[in-house]
Amino acid sequence: MSNMSKVDNEVLHNQMNWRYACKKFDSTKQIRESDWNILAESLRTAASSYGLQPWKFLVVQNPELRAQLLPLSWGQTPVTEASHLIVFTYKEKMDEQHIEKLIQTTAQVRGIDAAGLEGYKNMMIGDLVKGPRSEVINWWAQRQAYIAMGTLLTTASLMEIDTLPMEGLDPAGYDKVLNLVGTGWKTVAAVACGYRSADDKYQHNKKVRFEMKDVVEFR
Ligand SMILES: Cc1cc2nc3c(=O)[nH]c(=O)nc-3n(C[C@H](O)[C@H](O)[C@H](O)COP(=O)(O)O)c2cc1C
Repeated sequence: MSNMSKVDNEVLHNQMNWRYACKKFDSTKQIRESDWNILAESLRTAASSYGLQPWKFLVVQNPELRAQLLPLSWGQTPVTEASHLIVFTYKEKMDEQHIEKLIQTTAQVRGIDAAGLEGYKNMMIGDLVKGPRSEVINWWAQRQAYIAMGTLLTTASLMEIDTLPMEGLDPAGYDKVLNLVGTGWKTVAAVACGYRSADDKYQHNKKVRFEMKDVVEFR
């Protein structure tokens, strides 16, 4: 079989190692719109359980809001200095309305009758809205948000756009500043995106990873 990859393995390997958690961004460099659009598309097209997309990505552009978020983020300066700050929020409770929205969108996009998706809809409701998993649905939704985060980080690295994923923040504080309280959406993490500062010393650190045999096993 021929290799069908669109991107050289060497390129992929290089970009995996090029990416690092960028601690200092060059605040003079902005992500241009055409590149931002691809990053946003990587979030929108990310995989999620049942395709339910229980997420919303808030792009905080207002400098005053960014300044308010800084002390709620352990003072991590990428919050104010990176080109884009994306706050990952998740839907706290799954409900029939959201599921219905997916059903209607599916019917529309694929040109099929929503009535034919009734079984699928009831399965999702039975599992996530009424079933035992509804008790822990906030954890489920947070996991979905992390898949989008991973997809974003990989896409950005291929574009030589730097990122800092951040769990080091106060989610409840973020919810207040971003007016999320009472909306059913909650902050779980954030990612700063932009371009590394030449003097971020972390970019020269060797990656610390366990050996392949410690993390990948064949059975
Ligand atoms: C979900 C998540 C949250 C993280 N939160 C922070 C953070 O708040 N501050 C920070 O400096 N690094 C944060 N990191 C970066 C990790 O420390 C970093 O990815 C790890 O040390 C591996 O280094 P590398 O990404 O440079 O290869 C986070 C990473 C992930 C995946």
